[in-house]
Amino acid sequence: MAARMDVLLGAQWGDEGKGKVVDVIAPDYDVIARFQGGPNAGHTLLFEGRKHVLHTIPSGVFREGTVNLVGNGVVIDPVIFLKEVNALKAIGVDVRDSLLISRRAHLILPTHRALDAASEAEKGTSKIGSTLKGIGPTYMDKTGRNGLRVGDLELPDLKERYQSLVRKHERLLGLYEKPVATKEAEEEWLAAVEILRTMPFIDSEHYLDQALRDGKRVLAEGAQGTLLDIDFGTYPFVTSSNTISAGACTGLGVAPNRIDKVVGIFKAYCTRVGSGPFPTELHDTDGEHIRKVGHEFGSTTGRARRCGWLDLPALHYAVMINGITELAMMKADVLSDMDNLQVCTGYLVNGQRTERMPYDITGGIEPILEPVEGWGELRTEDPLPAGLELYIARIEKYVGVPINLVSLGPDRAQTVLRQGTLVH
Ligand code: IMP
Repeated sequence: MAARMDVLLGAQWGDEGKGKVVDVIAPDYDVIARFQGGPNAGHTLLFEGRKHVLHTIPSGVFREGTVNLVGNGVVIDPVIFLKEVNALKAIGVDVRDSLLISRRAHLILPTHRALDAASEAEKGTSKIGSTLKGIGPTYMDKTGRNGLRVGDLELPDLKERYQSLVRKHERLLGLYEKPVATKEAEEEWLAAVEILRTMPFIDSEHYLDQALRDGKRVLAEGAQGTLLDIDFGTYPFVTSSNTISAGACTGLGVAPNRIDKVVGIFKAYCTRVGSGPFPTELHDTDGEHIRKVGHEFGSTTGRARRCGWLDLPALHYAVMINGITELAMMKADVLSDMDNLQVCTGYLVNGQRTERMPYDITGGIEPILEPVEGWGELRTEDPLPAGLELYIARIEKYVGVPINLVSLGPDRAQTVLRQGTLVH
């Protein structure tokens, strides 16, 4: 019987801990497929005392027998990809054994990175806070129908296509009066492309269709988070792809009626990196405490993340937009021992209470905060403390879906499955 695909994605502003959950549940799947984003992502996994950060390669790469697919919706920087491949090789993981790449995925050029930097510099204080990996300009070339795709690496006129795109970028960089990418960057890119070329390229829409017909279990792995979605996030302070569940359809070529479970990952509090509105942001010692204890520093850029209380209207919005069927709550341990925990249950917009995410949350919006009973130390082998169970029940009631996994620390082993298992 044909199987259906599950989707796992971020329900906040990214950095929710998706990599860890994918790694934990990967043994239940035959294929893990990334569907959007690129090296702006940093999926962190910790096991056997070692930390691993993945940017482009799906988080199933450490599980033997799992196929890892980079879908058409992803943008790939060959240089960063090569570094990732080499880092994995150094610890005995040969991605060639398990990695497939869609021919339709777009390539990030050094000039895309230069354009990203130029655009951000031009914006000045209203900058997005981009990771500067060239994500926006690459997706702009995709929708502008100028992009270079992985499949183009198989064409005899690749060099001409590359040069024609670079010339266009150089003209744009001239308008910004910014330097073009260096010759060394170009050489590094062309060398990395040679390695990328040796990877198996596939037509992933056909591959996944067959896999599902053969009864294989497929998990679509999202990057960033719902509130960074290009359409439904806090525009313009968003990334340039559809991070929501619908993005798994366009980013892999899988029809909507083949999606089964949608797993939303969220933290027991909120963080955001880069600019943009953040209604529950804390500018006090509580925020500093969360950042310190939660190691809230970007895994791709090292930037300090902004921290704040859990925002229930925003989480509810994520449940609605994505059709989330179950949730995984991460990092409850970070709030252990904190007094005076709070949670946002609504907003005051121009003095009016609402539980809905408004169109514009950039100004005139105030979070309505309510107190939360705290909880002490969390240990995987003990039952969850009453305070945390109450918090979980309150979130479930507000958003209307169960929290089936609670993560109590970064390690694979520090994971509690509630109500049976996640996904099944
Ligand atoms: P870009 O996608 O690099 O252009 O960045 C756009 C916005 O999304 C910035 O605010 C980034 O900080 C944010 N962003 C991009 N990728 C991630 C991520 O993986 N985690 C968290 N924030 C991200």
